[in-house]
Amino acid sequence: MDRILVFYTSGYGATRQYAEWLEAGVECEVRQMEEGLPEDIENYSKVIIAGGIYAGKFGGLDFMKKYADQLGKMKVAVLAVGAENFHKGLTEKIWLQNFKDLELDVEVCYARGEFDFRNMKFSDKMMVRIGYMIYKKKLSENPEQYKIMGDRKTAYDWKDENYLKPVVKWLEVRE
Ligand SMILES: Cc1cc2nc3c(=O)[nH]c(=O)nc-3n(C[C@H](O)[C@H](O)[C@H](O)COP(=O)(O)O)c2cc1C
Repeated sequence: MDRILVFYTSGYGATRQYAEWLEAGVECEVRQMEEGLPEDIENYSKVIIAGGIYAGKFGGLDFMKKYADQLGKMKVAVLAVGAENFHKGLTEKIWLQNFKDLELDVEVCYARGEFDFRNMKFSDKMMVRIGYMIYKKKLSENPEQYKIMGDRKTAYDWKDENYLKPVVKWLEVRE
């Protein structure tokens, strides 16, 4: 039977919630990324790396680069958690922005998280404001995303266990 490890990092708790849902729903061990890979990593066959997307960058990317050699011997899926509405081509976009130069075969899955400008730390508020100004034209190609990134008042919460279905399906594949 596959032994499964889930690593996560979470700025505001959305990815942590998805990691907890995974822990409750499938047989796996959940760890925070700061713990690093365990010494007996060869006893695991599949690993899920979960994290938020910040200015296009997947939160687990540095972790994946650091452990690329070990992860290269395993089956790896990424659970990227963002504010963008799910649409065709989104996982491909995330792959291109983050993983195309990484010599790892990764399955990219997406889950929608939260967005609450008022609850953000100062540096993140600045990043959102600056990103909104710089990428105004690009963002406006996706009107919903444009509205959210410019919204300073609404506490959005899209977390939904159904987003985990593709990851669970990937876990069930036996090779
Ligand atoms: C500074 C900042 C930048 C963000 N950039 C993006 C982005 O580029 N794309 C996206 O889909 N979501 C973006 N988000 C939304 C986060 O990915 C979302 O809040 C997610 O739920 C974060 O998960 P976490 O709380 O587990 O870290 C951004 C949020 C912040 C605070």
